[in-house]
Amino acid sequence: MSLFDAASRARENAHAPYSGFKVGAAIRCRDGRVFAGCNVENVALPQGTCAEAGAVAAMVAAGERDIAEVLVLADAPDPVPPCGGCRQKLAEFAGPETPVILAGPDGERARTTLGALLPGAFTRQHLEQGET
Ligand code: THU
Repeated sequence: MSLFDAASRARENAHAPYSGFKVGAAIRCRDGRVFAGCNVENVALPQGTCAEAGAVAAMVAAGERDIAEVLVLADAPDPVPPCGGCRQKLAEFAGPETPVILAGPDGERARTTLGALLPGAFTRQHLEQGET
């Protein structure tokens, strides 16, 4: 399935009664498998989760850890990028060269990379250098 179709299907199931802003995300792994997620809001507002977080969780639960491509789908006038926290979540399993496609209901609107979205990422190296 295409990343767009996977994100689109997941987005239909988004639970966004508080913001009304439905998001779908899809990840293609290096071996070709595709995982999708949608935002799941909660009446205790900070407990809501983003679409990208759902897609990452589905990928890891299936035993995959190697992201090749990401697509984020939302319906807004401007292309919707992953939020800051989701950029870091994606960076756990994707390199800076990883393409990130920003899509609207009619298809791709913009294309960037994870490195462009998250320059100066906090990495495993920083953690290890700080260990005492
Ligand atoms: N949202 C996502 O699912 N992904 C993002 O990267 C940006 C924001 C969701 C969270 C919340 O349910 C709604 O969009 C409004 O912020």
